[in-house]
Amino acid sequence: MTRFSRPTGTQDILPEDQPYWEHLRTRVAEIACSYGFVRIDTPMFEATQLFTRGVGEATDIVEKEMYAFKDKGDHDIALRPEFTAGVMRAYIENGMQVLPKPVKLYSIGPIFRYERPQAGRFRQFYQFNAEVIGVQSPLADLEIMLLGWDIYASFGFQNLSFQVNSTGCPKCRPQYIEQLKTHYKAHKAEICDDCKRRLQVNPLRVLDCKQEQCQPVMESAPKMMRHLCKECDEHFAALRGYLDSLERQYTVNHKLVRGLDYYTKTVFEVWAEGIGAQSAVCGGGRYDGLIELLGGPATPSVGFAVGMERVVMVMKDQNTPVPPLPEPTVFVAFLGKASQHYAVQLLVKLRQTGIAALGAMSGSLRSQLRQADKNKARITLIVGEDEIAQGVVTLRDMKTGSQEAIPMGQIVNVIQQRFP
Ligand code: HAM
Repeated sequence: MTRFSRPTGTQDILPEDQPYWEHLRTRVAEIACSYGFVRIDTPMFEATQLFTRGVGEATDIVEKEMYAFKDKGDHDIALRPEFTAGVMRAYIENGMQVLPKPVKLYSIGPIFRYERPQAGRFRQFYQFNAEVIGVQSPLADLEIMLLGWDIYASFGFQNLSFQVNSTGCPKCRPQYIEQLKTHYKAHKAEICDDCKRRLQVNPLRVLDCKQEQCQPVMESAPKMMRHLCKECDEHFAALRGYLDSLERQYTVNHKLVRGLDYYTKTVFEVWAEGIGAQSAVCGGGRYDGLIELLGGPATPSVGFAVGMERVVMVMKDQNTPVPPLPEPTVFVAFLGKASQHYAVQLLVKLRQTGIAALGAMSGSLRSQLRQADKNKARITLIVGEDEIAQGVVTLRDMKTGSQEAIPMGQIVNVIQQRFP
């Protein structure tokens, strides 16, 4: 018989890891809500064209990593390789442009990218994503960056800092790209084949190359920051000014271009100590042209996303304490087959009154008590023929082992009072 394995690059999140995930999901949602974000859920798949147009045809995400296919109705469909394009499609389609600005939306869910799996890199992974829609002010960039920072800080990341850059806008970027191309063409013999290709299809991405041989060419390349138009320059300076006045650690990283074509002006990542090669747990930036590109009104916006697996990895490495998941406090055991009906009626009654209870399904009383212990029940209620005849239930305190008979009609009250 064939034994099936999970697809490469995916993972099973087993029960023992669920407390980390539950805490992470709850806490990021709480922080986002405290910042005034509201949740939006969009489909896990969309028309492929939404991503080719929104994220960019020549990006790695679209060109190499997208799970794209024809569905049974011959539609071109892709599993979402990121949230932003889908959220903007939903913003336009649901007429959210009439809402007062900014519109602040967050999402949590799985993302799909056909990447080469390695530590912290998966083909299905979870993102927490947040967008501030409709504000041009760099205060919106700051808001998103502070949210990223607070999320990191609340999960025990140490020595936080921002990596920040400006990628300009359609007014100033083309001239910069020409200069970059000229510089790289002068060093054509020294650069890798991938960079030669990038120069043709997506020149900014040469700044993202990790090949040793390309580093000197990259170091001596013209810097976008020196070629920004007045508007982009002022925007970037104002953002840095806010970071300075808040005394947040940041580095202007001229090589930070990020892998999505929609970015304009600010791009950033939050870096933290102790996450090794995967120092970027979150990244984002401004995308002033995206909504218009997708058929909506011109709407400046900024957002970011956190890779949640990477946060869980850090929490586990650092033994970050997480609250346990709720567990049943009461175990209902039966003595003899004839008592099963009575026991199950009691179980249902407890649950209907809101008491978290678990019922035995089989086994001797001794093995049922072992099961109650394993489930960390605080009390076990034992129902046998004697109890039924007397109209009582035996209440066993699992810590002390003491037992007492409680009249059936009072059992709910007794549990609620003694084990609130
Ligand atoms: P991104 O940088 O492509 O940005 O992804 C954001 C985060 O997702 C990364 O920093 C990383 O933590 C995580 N991530 C990416 N790929 C993987 C993977 N294969 N396995 C595990 N984690 C991964 C975006 O997706 C943009 N949509 C962010 C954004 C929102 N920009 C504006 N608004």
